[in-house]
Order: sequence, then structure tokens, then C-alpha cells
Amino acid sequence: MVDSDIDLSGRVCMVTGASSGIGREAARALAGMGAELFLLCRDRSRGEATAKDITDDTGNSNISLLLGDLTSGADIRRIASTFLELNKPLHVLLNNAGLFNTTRVLTPGGQEEMFAVNHLAYFLLTSLLLDRLKASAPARIVNVASGAHVLVKGINFEDLTFEDGFSALKVYSHSKLANILFTRELARRLEGSGVTANAVHPGAIGTGLGAQNGWLGTLINTMMRLFLRSPARGAQTSIYACISPELDGMSGQYLENCKAKRPKPWAEDDAAAERLWEVSEGLIRAQASAS
Ligand SMILES: NC(=O)c1ccc[n+]([C@@H]2O[C@H](COP(=O)([O-])OP(=O)(O)OC[C@H]3O[C@@H](n4cnc5c(N)ncnc54)[C@H](OP(=O)(O)O)[C@@H]3O)[C@@H](O)[C@H]2O)c1
Repeated sequence: MVDSDIDLSGRVCMVTGASSGIGREAARALAGMGAELFLLCRDRSRGEATAKDITDDTGNSNISLLLGDLTSGADIRRIASTFLELNKPLHVLLNNAGLFNTTRVLTPGGQEEMFAVNHLAYFLLTSLLLDRLKASAPARIVNVASGAHVLVKGINFEDLTFEDGFSALKVYSHSKLANILFTRELARRLEGSGVTANAVHPGAIGTGLGAQNGWLGTLINTMMRLFLRSPARGAQTSIYACISPELDGMSGQYLENCKAKRPKPWAEDDAAAERLWEVSEGLIRAQASAS
């Protein structure tokens, strides 16, 4: 377990997807170390229950909710401006929210939902908060990716909504490859700013991931919870990436089991990372002008 003697009082941390699984346990650990927390959740009652549970457990009541759906660019913009208007620093942004769909679902903005929530939402939220993170340096951005990136060999630039050849595992893995490439390009752009960006593979963890997919989702999810590691174990590398002094100044890394590791070569493709950045910017711009 990551050293919990670290004192985070005075530090402000934002965690997305905080109402379940790995995000909830990472938020609990950060609260236990005294951080002020902003929990980004889409459901008020689950968010409030999470905040109460964490406060009861840690004694830290310095926890606020930011409510919104990460399939919606408008919600992400509203959440970012709500936070920015508070004029608080931001020392840690943990982009953790994610989903696994067994079928192809499009967002209201026309994006494939796993790409939208697992990648585009990280990209947009980070972009909107970047100046505040820089002004709060030293600060860290942590993107929860996955070892599943090994299952695809590159970004499907020609068909990002997977109109042709949708396969659930492939499309999920593709979005997680996007997390690693985004992190690399972000780290490159942040050089010298005092803000670091690292990606994390949490391991295979029994969480709520995929549970919303009808009977199949319930079955897979029950098996995951029975046989895989607990969310508290799964949160360790995220927590490490958010706070460990060993990572001071270290950026652009892919971390697994609280250690840097080389991802697959296609996750170290800097040309693809730069292209993904430009394409993501274009998609976000198009989404903003359509709404
Ligand atoms: N579990 C694993 O084995 C594993 C392995 C590798 C990587 N990961 C990654 O770990 C991260 C956390 O997943 P988890 O395993 O902890 O799963 P989880 O228990 O299902 O948690 C996912 C979180 O994301 C939130 N979320 C999903 N769609 C959202 C949306 N449209 N708007 C706002 N929030 C949304 C969920 O909100 P609700 O609570 O409202 O549903 C939930 O809080 C994900 O990025 C996942 O890809 C997981």
C-alpha cells in the first residue's frame, strides 16, 4: 500500500468517476491524507453517498461534488467553470472515469461512447483546467489507462466512431491506448511547467466496470468482483501517481504496480500522439460549435 503518512493538507485534488470502484478508493485515500477533494460524479445521490462514506471513514469533510455527465461537452465545460470560479488551486487532477460497453453506443454529440468518456472527456477537462494546474505547480495530472492497450495496434483515425467493425474489447482497448498517447503528448507540451502527466494501469480489478450491460454485464461484473483484486488494491498505482515523492518531476510515464513500465511500442508512437491531440481538439471544437 502507498505510504499514507504523506500530509496533503492544503492540497486540492479532483477525481473523476469518484462514485465507484478505483476512483472512489483513490478519493478515500487522498481524503485520508487530508486533501481538499472535488469529486466529479454524474449521479447526485451516489456522489453524496460516496462523500458521506469517505467523511465517515476519514474524518475529512472538505469534500465537494461536481455533478455532470462526461458524455456531454457542455457538462464538462460547466463543471470546469464552476471549479475555476472558486479561485482555488488545483494540485492533482485524477482522470479516472471510464466505461465498458458491449454494444456500440453514440453520445448525443455523435461520438462513440467509450472513446468519448474514456478519452475525449479526459482531454477536454484537462484542457479547461490546465492554466489553473500550471498556476498551482507543482501539480500532477494522472490518467487512468489500461494494460488492455496491448490488444490494439494503433489509433483508428479513419473511423473513430467504429461505424465499421465494432468489437467491444477492441474499442475499449483503443480508448485506453488513447489515454497513454494523450498522456505522452500532454507531458511533452507541459515540459518545464511544473505540471507532470502520467498514465496508470490499475491491474485487473473487481469494480463496477461494464455492469450496465444487461444480464451479460451483471454476470461478467459478478465474476470480476469474485475473482479479481479489490478496488482498494486497484487504486494503489493511481494514488502513487497522484502523491508519491518518488515521482516528483517525472512525467510522460506509464505506471503499473507503482512502477514505471514500457507500454507497447504503438503506445510510444509520438507522431500518433500528436495527431490524436490535433484530432481531439478538432472534435471538441466541432462539438462546442454544434451545441
Ligand atoms: N476494473 C479494471 O479491471 C480496470 C482495468 C484497467 C483500467 N481500468 C480503468 O479504471 C477506471 C475506473 O474504472 P473502474 O474499474 O473503477 O470502474 P467503475 O467502478 O465502473 O467506475 C467507473 C466510474 O466512471 C464513472 N462514469 C462512467 N461513465 C460516466 C459518465 N458518462 N459521466 C460521468 N462519470 C462516468 C462511473 O460513474 P457511476 O458511478 O455513475 O457509474 C464510475 O464512477 C476506468 O478508466 C477504467 O477504464 C479498470
